[in-house]
This record gives sequence, C-alpha cells and structure tokens, in this order.
Amino acid sequence: MRVTVVGLGYVGLVTGACLAEWGHEVVGVDADPRRLGTLRDGRVPFHEPRLPDLVADGVTKGTLQFTDDLKGASAMADMVIVAVGTHDGNGGWQTDTVRGALADIVPAMADHATLVIRSTLPPDFIRQLPQLVSSRRASADRSPIPVMLNPEFTREGRAVRDYQQPDRIVLGVVIDPDGHGEAALRELYHSAAAPVIVMGATDAAITKLAANLFLATKISFANELAEICDAFGADVATVVDGMSYDTRIGGAFLKAGVGFGGSCLPNQVSMTIRTAAQVGVDTPLLSAVDEVNHRRRTQVIERAASLLDGTVRGRRVALLGLTFKPDTDDLRDAPALTIASELLEAGAEVIAYDPMPLARERSATLVPGLQVASAAGDAIRDADIAVLVTEWPEFIDLDWALAGSTMRRRVLIDGRNVLSGEELVAIGFTYSSFGRGTVSPDAVGAGALAAAGRFASLQWGRG
Ligand code: UDX
Repeated sequence: MRVTVVGLGYVGLVTGACLAEWGHEVVGVDADPRRLGTLRDGRVPFHEPRLPDLVADGVTKGTLQFTDDLKGASAMADMVIVAVGTHDGNGGWQTDTVRGALADIVPAMADHATLVIRSTLPPDFIRQLPQLVSSRRASADRSPIPVMLNPEFTREGRAVRDYQQPDRIVLGVVIDPDGHGEAALRELYHSAAAPVIVMGATDAAITKLAANLFLATKISFANELAEICDAFGADVATVVDGMSYDTRIGGAFLKAGVGFGGSCLPNQVSMTIRTAAQVGVDTPLLSAVDEVNHRRRTQVIERAASLLDGTVRGRRVALLGLTFKPDTDDLRDAPALTIASELLEAGAEVIAYDPMPLARERSATLVPGLQVASAAGDAIRDADIAVLVTEWPEFIDLDWALAGSTMRRRVLIDGRNVLSGEELVAIGFTYSSFGRGTVSPDAVGAGALAAAGRFASLQWGRG
C-alpha cells in the first residue's frame, strides 16, 4: 500500500519505518526541516533501539521517503495516518495540531483512500470528527472517505517490537459505511499476527486511555504497597512475587520505585482527570494515582535528608539516570528532573550522569544549576549520597566497591529496587530502597549480613 504518515515523532516514525519494513511504500511528512534532513540521511533524531536500522534500510531501498509537502503526500496515498502530538505541554490536551493537519489532508486525499488517526485524541473531539471530515470533503467537492482510529500501544525502548508484534490491534470506526476503511487497515497489518478488535471510535479512544490509566494505577498501587512494606519491614518485591502467581493479578507493572514518567502515563492521567471533570465525572482513584506518583519524587529528597543527618543542604548528591526509563533518551516528565530541581532548591549540589549524551546535554538546560558528568564515576566521586533514578544496566553492573571507595559517605538510595542490598551493605554502604527498607552496616555487621542470607530478615529502619 502507499501510506503517508503525518508527524514524525516517536509514534509516526516508528509506524512509518515498520510499515516500510513490511513492504508498504511509505512517505513520512513533517514540518521540521532539520528533522527531515536527519531522516533523509537515514538517521533517527532520538534513541529507539532497532529504529535506525529500519529507517536506514527504508531510505536505501526507497520504500521510506520524507517530505514537508503535506497536500502532495496526502493526494498520492491509499492511506493517510495522522500521528501528530495532542499534548498542550501543561498536562492537558490540544487539538489545534490535528485540526490544522486535517484541514490540508482531508480535501487532498484520493476518493478511494482511508484516513486513519493514530494520535491520542480527547473523547469529546471524537464526536466532532465525522462532521469535521465530511464538511471538508463536501466543500472541496470530493467524495466521502472512510475515517478510522488506530490507537497505539507501543512502549519507548521497545517500540519496533511492540509495533510489529502487537498484543492486539484496536480499530475504531469514525466513518466506514461499507467497511472499506476496516478492510484497508486489515490489509495494512497483514504481517502482524494479532487479534484485530473493531469497535466504535469513542470506545477505541477510551480503550487507549484506559490501558495507560490501568498501568499507571498498577504502578501507584505498588508504590503505596511499598510504603506499607517499609513500615512493617516487609520486602515489596517478594510480596509482589507472591501476588503474581494468582492468574487474576500477574506481576507486570508492579515494580515499586520513584514512580512513572514519560510522555504518556503522567499526561494521560492528568488529561483524563480534567476531561472527566468537564463532563461532571469525579475521578478520586485517578487523582490518588497521580498524587502517589508525584509524592514519591518528594520522598526521595526527604529520604536523602534523613540519611544525611537531617538535611541535604550543602551535600553533594550523585544522580544516576536522567531519562524516564532505560533505552530511551526521552526526558519528558522524567522523575530525575523533578528530583534534581527539588534537591537543588533544598540547597544540595547535584551532579547527574546518564548514559545518553543527549539527555545529559538537555537536562543541564532544563534544570538550572544541575551539573552533569560524562561518566558515572565522575558523578559519584566525592558524593555524600548516590541516588539511582533510572535502572540503566550500567548502574546495575557498576563496580560499587570501587565507586564507594571514592565517595565521601557510602550512602545509596536505590530508586528502582534493582541492586542487591545485601551486597552493598557487605561493602560498607547504607542502602535505602522504596519497599525494601533501609539497612546499614552499623545496624548489622557485614559478616552477619552475608550469613543472614535473606535481605528481608535483616534489621529494618524506615529511612
Ligand atoms: C507507555 C505504555 O506502556 C504504552 O503502551 C503506551 O503506548 C505509551 O505509554 P512508555 O511511556 O514508553 O509506554 O513507558 P512504560 O514502559 O509504560 O513505562 C512508563 C513509566 O512507568 C516509566 O517511567 C517506568 O519506569 C515506570 N514503571 C513501569 C514503573 O515505575 N514500574 C513498573 O512496574 C513499570
């Protein structure tokens, strides 16, 4: 199929590159000339595993092309997929970008073509879509076209895999009287072995939101559970493992830590709270999900202060990890940025390191006063405390004995519960986690610790 993808951010570029790999002829449209130049050279402007190979391959074969000519690219396509952003940058929705794109796309599209919207849309905008598209077609003197929603469920860092091997494909019908739009989308996805679920457009839009809201709820549940575990001296990872064998529960998305960030989960929680309030629906559960998530970031500063004789003022803090999760260079709503700002505000000196050079560069601009180091060891040297915020493998595999020997004090907050408390205490660290307590060599001798075997059986403090 000849497919035009409009908007070459994470969603659009992954969509276009994966479709080109499946053998479709893809044209990607974006208004940003710098982004287009980078892509035409076969390079990707952000970090996403496997995507650079797909883009370079598509560009070389000529199955993936890039342009800023929205009308021209819309006119020649069998299908136009809209993947422009809908965040207002302030926790709410904006539909100006999608409206602006549709004003050019809809009149230009061929009569046989299908319009697909992949951008995440506010539910009330869905109701306006049929009229918006039909009137633009009519005033351009063109035949009606089918309009479908195809929400995305791809995770950053695994986006190519998630796109090509999806758990399910959701199709929402906006206008499709003869089933032509559904048939075209089934053909588009013929290479994917996944159930295709067809539903009304509003159902599809809410399905997308609900999936993310549920994932966010699971994480905040795990984080609240972690506080309960800390208070009673239990180990949240062990508790979650024990829960996970129940097939009604499972173990995914129940990792406690500094909470969720990124462009989707935090925004979609806050957008849904606002949108629901506008139609008179109170959402106390979602408000709590948001509150638990944000409280966690502040708790890192409180925890650091309690581990450093009551204050972080004048203390040197090594922040390990800036991106909102590993395998991305995305800093959108990254917990590390909030934690860095709050530490600086409280008078700490903060030196951060992340394996992604772009994330280091951008975070220094985003958080005034933040220092960035170009190696983990440089951030850790002379620190009073290290705070692991993003579970990059580099931090898990770090020689902590060596790192600890360069620190002013061997104190570590493991914000993702990925390190071994036993091992760290055995090499002289005070180790503090969320949901697995705080333990220090003073509380238990290192020899006794090694002999004790089970971390959960050690002496706990709330930290
Ligand atoms: C999410 C959805 O997973 C995806 O389906 C949707 O299309 C886009 O939004 P993404 O934002 O890329 O994907 O990241 P995800 O892997 O969901 O992680 C989100 C945040 O939750 C990260 O900050 C991560 O560290 C955190 N998280 C995840 C936890 O704190 N605990 C967990 O158990 C899982």
